[in-house]
Amino acid sequence: MTQKCETTDCGKDATLQCPTCLKLGIKGSFFCSQPCFKGFWKEHKAIHALAAGGSKPVEGDGVYNPWPHFRFTGKLRPYQQTPKRTVPEAIQRPDYADHPNGRSLSEEALRGTKIKVLDDEEIEGMRVAGRLGRECLDEGAKGVEVGTTTDELDRLVHEAAIERDCYPSPLNYYNFPKSCCTSVNEVICHGIPDQRPLQDGDLCNIDVTVYHRGFHGDLNETFFVGNVSEKHKKLVQVTHEALSKAIEFVRPGEKYRDIGNVIQKYVAPHGFSVVRSYCGHGIHRVFHTAPNVPHYAKNSAVGVMAPGHCFTIEPMISIGVQKAETWPDDWTAVTADGLYSAQFEQTLLVNETGCEILTKRRENNGQPWFMDKM
Ligand code: MF3
Ligand code: CO
Ligand code: CO
Repeated sequence: MTQKCETTDCGKDATLQCPTCLKLGIKGSFFCSQPCFKGFWKEHKAIHALAAGGSKPVEGDGVYNPWPHFRFTGKLRPYQQTPKRTVPEAIQRPDYADHPNGRSLSEEALRGTKIKVLDDEEIEGMRVAGRLGRECLDEGAKGVEVGTTTDELDRLVHEAAIERDCYPSPLNYYNFPKSCCTSVNEVICHGIPDQRPLQDGDLCNIDVTVYHRGFHGDLNETFFVGNVSEKHKKLVQVTHEALSKAIEFVRPGEKYRDIGNVIQKYVAPHGFSVVRSYCGHGIHRVFHTAPNVPHYAKNSAVGVMAPGHCFTIEPMISIGVQKAETWPDDWTAVTADGLYSAQFEQTLLVNETGCEILTKRRENNGQPWFMDKM
């Protein structure tokens, strides 16, 4: 791969390296010419301070910098990832687990808007997957504290899944490298667990999906790390409440497209915004399928709820703009303004009168974990 000039929007091939970077052992920093190097010096020199352990204008371990040209929207930075974890052969694996690009051919074959009605045996399979997914999330949640890395949370979830005869669904799903998603602060969703230690005041979402004997159960929650600001606590509380309102709305005959109206109506008066790029989804023998379930108002999603449908609702709510951007790892979705975002998710089964929450919390009457921390 040829290196590109570090100057924002230059884009020329580059071979010159900054002498200070060479001395400090900073890799991947290149310039096309002396004028570019001089012109970008003010921005560039900050990385020397990082490497030297000086004052830190931004986060990061100061050495690991996989995308020197990328303009981050907020303060969060990627850290190194640990090697891919393995799952014992005896555990049933989804098709994508062994596909070179992580493609799920079973999921791709189902592309369309037809919503599956599960039979009794399939419903029982989903109940078990939902319960086991919940247990794994609760295990991961126990690790959330200042200083714990998100990779350690991934390890906790991975081990909990294996102990329960589950394959951690994210692992190798379209080449996702880890066993759960950990989305910190401005990360909206699909954050990759890495060696960043959680910091006081962080919000950290853990999104767990497990595959057990042919069925996926999917849920997530956002947690507080240490002392969280009142504004960010409010964001988490409102996001949780938005999901609760949406779940109360679910019953046979209602349209999937109206879920977004319920969520946005609840969230908007608080001044928060509803992320539009990522939606809830049908889930059963495949991870993501019909129906598509947008969380924003006036959407045009297809389908009417009926008993035997399984799907997730997983609103992502942001303090500032709803617009999302993706890091060059092709997964991490962040807010375009770098302000914080929160999310909660449950897997639901539509029944005759409403719905069953398959991933419901079993402790504390299903009350959210933060009830006593506000
Ligand atoms: N669990 C996420 C969801 O709620 C999907 C994660 S896909 C992954 O739909 F590949 F990023 F893991
Ligand atoms: Co989901
Ligand atoms: Co999920």
